[in-house]
Amino acid sequence: MEYNFDEIIPRKGTNCVKHDALKQFFGSDDLLPMWVADMDFRSPDFVMEALRRRCDHEVLGYATAPDSYWLAVTNWLKNHYAITADRQELHFIPGIVAGIAFVLQAMTNPGDGILVTTPVYPPFLALPENSHRQLVCSPLKVVDGRFAIDFDDFEWRAHQCRWLILSNPHNPGGTVWDEETLRRIADICYRNNVNVISDEIHADLTLPPHRHVSFSTVSDNARNISITFVAPSKTFNIAGLSSSVCYCPNEQLRQRFFGYLDGYELANGNIFAFVGAEAAFAQGEEWLRQLLHYLQGNVDCLRDFLSHHLPKVRAILPEASYLAWLDFSDLGLDHDDIRDRLVHRAHLALNDGTTFGGKDYSGCFRLNLGCPRATLLEALHRLVSALE
Ligand SMILES: Cc1ncc(COP(=O)(O)O)c(C=O)c1O
Repeated sequence: MEYNFDEIIPRKGTNCVKHDALKQFFGSDDLLPMWVADMDFRSPDFVMEALRRRCDHEVLGYATAPDSYWLAVTNWLKNHYAITADRQELHFIPGIVAGIAFVLQAMTNPGDGILVTTPVYPPFLALPENSHRQLVCSPLKVVDGRFAIDFDDFEWRAHQCRWLILSNPHNPGGTVWDEETLRRIADICYRNNVNVISDEIHADLTLPPHRHVSFSTVSDNARNISITFVAPSKTFNIAGLSSSVCYCPNEQLRQRFFGYLDGYELANGNIFAFVGAEAAFAQGEEWLRQLLHYLQGNVDCLRDFLSHHLPKVRAILPEASYLAWLDFSDLGLDHDDIRDRLVHRAHLALNDGTTFGGKDYSGCFRLNLGCPRATLLEALHRLVSALE
């Protein structure tokens, strides 16, 4: 079957954050939404059919995860992450942000240092602060148009920390961390008694020829100090189902973390989370193949457009997923001016770069490319008119 990612599907009025929360976040409704990280594509037919079939039963009592769900999860982990997981090493999680918050609550104490590499997905900054842990930021460098870890800085800061929250691949830059980088992170963390949360929510969207490397697979050290989160939510555009999975091979960490989840009944799951994820993982290969091809086309489109029309904009283009990091600082405009132009002149909603790590990221904005190409082109033409 040929999937049509060019189809424009109106989403306004469906209570979705991306289209229906614009007024709350940008002060205006009349914007083309290129912000929140979900895609404007239809969720896959086989997921929708599975959900409809379950709805037809019309009794929506408490749900349990069937063996077929766990089989679909373990097969996906084996085929896409090179993880051979026993069932006992896995736990359902109602969402990765919640999962990270649970780790902080269960495994750290107030005042503990939590390391992140900036710029980064804003909840990585907010969760430690909201739970009164000490947020420690190691700024990434930009090398040859992609983010890279500054290992001297990273190691020095790791020394003050108990946990690292790693976005693997990275959001906002879509950077794919290679095996050597991950092994080096693992060694530094191991030496400094730092455990690692590897958030791999964007991993399935790694764009060939790039290859996702799952953190726990790079070494024994990595395996022993990590908790990995994966999900079908970005991959199959089903974030609203709140369905993700945690993998924890170290028995001590697992007993403490899974014991906390079970003790407080924080991660029991729900009917649609299991049904949607099982269908996605069991039947999703071809849909994903076609999606990756389309997303790569959008990345190419952005690259070409910028080089022709906005050569002064420095872009970090995604190697995974559909988020691009745009740096407008060479245009000689200040940050607030750019933000005003985007919203009021271009009627565009992009994520403000400063929310990913503070004023070091003034002049930067994140653009979501997970949309039909016509929408992307419309956004890019508006961008030119805003910045002229
Ligand atoms: C790196 C990263 N982690 C987690 C999430 C959200 O995960 P969830 O919806 O499962 O809480 C996002 C969403 O953009 C993300 O980019």
